[in-house]
Amino acid sequence: MPKLVVLVSGSGTNLQAIIDAFPTQVASVIADRDCYALTRANSAGIPAYLVDRKLHRHDLSQRINALIPDDCDLIVLAGFLSILDNQLIQRFPQKIINIHPSLLPRHGGAGMWGIKVHQAAINSGDNESGCTVHYVSEEIDGGAIIAQAKVAIAADDTAESLQQKVLAHEHKLLVAVISKLLGVN
Ligand code: GAR
Repeated sequence: MPKLVVLVSGSGTNLQAIIDAFPTQVASVIADRDCYALTRANSAGIPAYLVDRKLHRHDLSQRINALIPDDCDLIVLAGFLSILDNQLIQRFPQKIINIHPSLLPRHGGAGMWGIKVHQAAINSGDNESGCTVHYVSEEIDGGAIIAQAKVAIAADDTAESLQQKVLAHEHKLLVAVISKLLGVN
């Protein structure tokens, strides 16, 4: 059975979508801060680890790397906000994916995460946004794009309303990509 490891930093709605779709395949959840996603993992009976980014500023990636088994089939960054180092990225070529809440390459890169991404889409006057699943490479949000879903931006959308619309699409897109990559469901 394929083994997934999911990295999280936030409320974990994407993690929940993964758990619901692949209830027996999430081997572990790793967080870089205390967050509700850890509660979701615990409720689902999935081993969950906290590697605090503030306590382990200099070796966060190495510590996360040590928690990931060699036989892991896919590592999913599901709202994970720390940057992984090259050693970890190179250990799992084409096996680490990230979900980003915009149509990359728009509104990506260092410092672009969460509500800031949606505010940038609104401020730019874009009439559409969406989400992207891509392979993780050494360039932030720069790895090969696997799939995108588009969301229309309405004239009265705020960053918050856009975030909610995009999030609903994220859950479906992420599950669809994982199914395809693992050849399951
Ligand atoms: C999601 O919108 C995800 O795309 C975003 O954080 C949110 C996490 O939500 N990730 C980034 O902005 C990464 N650059 P969740 O914890 O409810 O899944």
